[in-house]
Amino acid sequence: MSEYKEPLLDVAHLGRLELLTPKLDQSLWYFRDLLGMEVVATEGDSVYMRAYGDYAHSTFKLTAASQPGPGRISWRCMSPQALERRVKAIEAAGLGIGWQDGDIGRGRFYEFRDPDGHHMDLYFEEQKYRAPDALRSTLKNLPQRYTARGANVRRIDHLALCAQDVAANREFAMDLLGFRVREQVLYNHGQTEIGSWMSLGQIHHEMAYVLDVKGAHGRMHHMSFWIDNREDVLRAADILAENNIFIEAGPSKHNNSQAFYLYSYEPGGNRIEIYSGSFIVTAPDFETVTWNEEERGTGVYWGGALPESFLNYCTPNVDTPVAAENANVPVFDPV
Ligand SMILES: [Fe+2]
Repeated sequence: MSEYKEPLLDVAHLGRLELLTPKLDQSLWYFRDLLGMEVVATEGDSVYMRAYGDYAHSTFKLTAASQPGPGRISWRCMSPQALERRVKAIEAAGLGIGWQDGDIGRGRFYEFRDPDGHHMDLYFEEQKYRAPDALRSTLKNLPQRYTARGANVRRIDHLALCAQDVAANREFAMDLLGFRVREQVLYNHGQTEIGSWMSLGQIHHEMAYVLDVKGAHGRMHHMSFWIDNREDVLRAADILAENNIFIEAGPSKHNNSQAFYLYSYEPGGNRIEIYSGSFIVTAPDFETVTWNEEERGTGVYWGGALPESFLNYCTPNVDTPVAAENANVPVFDPV
């Protein structure tokens, strides 16, 4: 049995993802009309949205920008005291940016960057969603009615970020934020860490770091929304195909996470996953599952092969070729 380390429980869960898009109107159509999310506020060049099962006022923010890619990634802390502790630790690590007064739906937050440069924040004060009459569910414990519009995703689930140094960013997430690593992929007889999947709670993974094969910084491979079952993933594929959305991979099943997936590009160019069926982790002493190249393969348990774009395309896109040191990394699926 590996050494059990007292868990750091200061950070609760993924709170909100901001996605940058050069085509705000078309991206809004994709998320509102095809994925079935609700618009809760608009401010400047940003649209605040939510999925019907999310308890918070808004969990997704679309912001107009010159290029697609990740915006600010928000993590909710367990308490005001936990927030202060994490801020002190991040400041001591030299990764802090500073406090901001607040944002729509939440109180003050502390901005920082991970070692690869992704923009993140920590916060505690959160406005609960109160549905207007037209969106009130007849089910008392559901924050918002199931509208049955489009794929009707239930909640934000996770994001996969690219990093030049996966191990350094994984260690940052573990040591400073309290992430626990569920699964990882080590190539070249364990010498090269090309992916780590980690979580703050029982969800299989809320964030993954995967190798940026082009050697860039601050990029995103995909973000993911949860849907309740595999049949709904197939239905989502029909909805996207009927609307001429590019489906890059799936529906198929991953080996690590065991999830059923569907990847498409929203009109702004970001890769979006619709996802169901991954396992949860209840053991506090769960032992990280480590895959080598033979065991891992391309990451597909069953289903169609992954296209080359799956490894090479991330947002924002860069025109540089795959870095020479990564030329022998096979196409793998970042889940
Ligand atoms: Fe994923």
